[in-house]
Amino acid sequence: MKSLLVLVDSHPGHRDELAAAFGHGCFQALAVGPEAASSIDSLELGAVALSLLGGPSLLSLVDGWRANPQLRSVPVAAVVKPGDGALAEAAWSAGVDEVLPWPDEDEHLRAGLRSLERISRHRHEVAAFDGLLGKIMTAFEAREPATFEHGERVARIAVAMGAHLGLSVETQERMRRGALLHDIGTVILPDRSMYQVGVLGPGALDEVHAHPVVGYSLLKGVPSLEPVLPFVHRHHERINGSGFPDGLRGSEITLPVQVVAIADAYDAMTSARPYRATFSRREALEMLGEEAESGLWDEALLLPLRRATLGAGQWDEGG
Ligand SMILES: [Fe+2]
Repeated sequence: MKSLLVLVDSHPGHRDELAAAFGHGCFQALAVGPEAASSIDSLELGAVALSLLGGPSLLSLVDGWRANPQLRSVPVAAVVKPGDGALAEAAWSAGVDEVLPWPDEDEHLRAGLRSLERISRHRHEVAAFDGLLGKIMTAFEAREPATFEHGERVARIAVAMGAHLGLSVETQERMRRGALLHDIGTVILPDRSMYQVGVLGPGALDEVHAHPVVGYSLLKGVPSLEPVLPFVHRHHERINGSGFPDGLRGSEITLPVQVVAIADAYDAMTSARPYRATFSRREALEMLGEEAESGLWDEALLLPLRRATLGAGQWDEGG
């Protein structure tokens, strides 16, 4: 289905022509006057195009749209006469996402519209992800508050490690989301097996071991959640092949997943669990160091982990 592009133009004489020109390809175009600009937030919009063919005055609308939660993520294009560099510059400064010269060759206009559509689709996906993530996290927090808080701490450590490792901001954001959700599969575990008192019986152990696969199956098939699946599915894999569920080895486990996995292990060691003692930061780092020597972890992750946990409220033991 084509998404809706609303064109705002001050001159009724232009509107039909503009709507016809901008309405092919991925968008269906609707041309309206500036008086309708304040009520377009009731429409499900793919994008807005602001005609500056009559001058810059309509640019003042951009601020209002950006302040409106319904319109904030809708991409805005400015339509300017070809070669009007000053107006194009003013439009960029006002915060538009794209400048479309018009009239122009069809090919150029189509390329501009495609770029606008890409921005629109991307923002839609992010908004859908955030909406869905918010709902899942609310349910998760209510059902498993301790696991939820553990996810938040793992996310903080993993993102800080990602920054020390020089990973991109996008990758860090993916890690944050993955870390928040990594234990989502525990929601099906009966009687909080993850935090059960005493030694886990064989049945409970199977349930705990099943949670990465359960979490993966829960979230699988939702396109906006696709980027977090590896974290949910693979955070108990270890590079020497000793992890679960599939005993992956080495680079079969991506670096961002390895980072979340070691942050997860660190937080599990340093936070209270009813079935075993809590370790200090130093003890946890020592144990993880020994595990790295025995092949469980990439040793290159130890320094970023050390740095990332320095500010985590455990200053007592130094670097
Ligand atoms: Fe887990």
